[in-house]
Amino acid sequence: RHRVLSGIQPTADSFHLGNYLGAVRQWVELQDEYDAFYFIPDLHAITVPQDPKELRARTRRAAAQLLAVGIDPARSTLFVQSHVPEHAQLAWVLNCITGFGEAGRMTQFKDKSARQGSDQASVGLFTYPVLQAADILLYRPQRVPVGEDQRQHLELTRDLAQRFNSRYKKTFVVPEAHIVTGIAKIYDLQEPTAKMSKSGSGVSGRIDILDDPAVSAKKIRSAVTDNEREIRYDTAEKPGVSNLLTIQSALTGTPVATLVEGYVGKGYGDLKSDTADAVSAFSAPVRTAFTEYMNDPAELDRILRDGAEHARSIASRTLAQVYDRVGFLPPK
Ligand code: TYM
Repeated sequence: RHRVLSGIQPTADSFHLGNYLGAVRQWVELQDEYDAFYFIPDLHAITVPQDPKELRARTRRAAAQLLAVGIDPARSTLFVQSHVPEHAQLAWVLNCITGFGEAGRMTQFKDKSARQGSDQASVGLFTYPVLQAADILLYRPQRVPVGEDQRQHLELTRDLAQRFNSRYKKTFVVPEAHIVTGIAKIYDLQEPTAKMSKSGSGVSGRIDILDDPAVSAKKIRSAVTDNEREIRYDTAEKPGVSNLLTIQSALTGTPVATLVEGYVGKGYGDLKSDTADAVSAFSAPVRTAFTEYMNDPAELDRILRDGAEHARSIASRTLAQVYDRVGFLPPK
């Protein structure tokens, strides 16, 4: 069976709808067909300052959310990155075949370090995409389901895999990004030309999957649209309206064109209240399941322990090959 792998950072109390529609929903679908590995990259999280207590809590919450949206530990391997030390070990080796300029061209690094200032930005932030490449290459997946913002990191991963394979010996699978057009970039409700994100325009621009339905409905009601009245899909002229159509279509399964036909003669209020209904129908069972997992920490620990054990059994074999190929003397 072919393999998929992906990760989501534990840097907020809740995933937002962009995380879910752009990535995690595909993870759930892919676990039927693929040997699936999903993990919580806590090593990546500390590339920017984190409160230790909060990080630990958010790591648990991330695991509980993944289970709540349908990641099934009987079919998928779910684990925490720091439980598998091979990630950091392979990252070191890959750091040594990555160009300084190559890493410096990563747009996410440029954006984040510009925001923090070069004295505040860590070396960890600089080498973040190399760690991400290690996360992926250790497991030799064919596909990596992510949102649009991860495309460049996937390109770097492919380059590093090819470089290692040709410099030493064929070791890594060169993975493909699995990016679903139409939903790979969900936009901020307040600033519909920017992606929905944990930082972004603030909480009002972002729908968290654990939001109370009344809260998400309020955010959607105050979403920025435009001065026309017509509901149509046009990302250039009507980014706000188009984003709501995308969200509603993705959550209900009704094609955007069908939604648009149904709105002839109706107004933005209708679009917003239908979208809020779709969000609350999705989030109600997720919130219930999330609470159940959070109330059973022993079960959560067991799932993560089993996941890490299985992940390590694969990661350690890849790392041993890598160490051998670069010429490290094995301990005797
Ligand atoms: P992270 O934690 O920022 O986001 C998790 C996933 O959500 C996607 N995403 C979006 N998709 C659509 N619209 C949006 N507005 C939106 N915002 C976020 C992201 O593309 C991502 O797929 N570097 C990764 C984590 C990572 C990883 C990996 C991923 C670490 N190692 C190995 C894949 C493979 C990140 O920060 O994602």
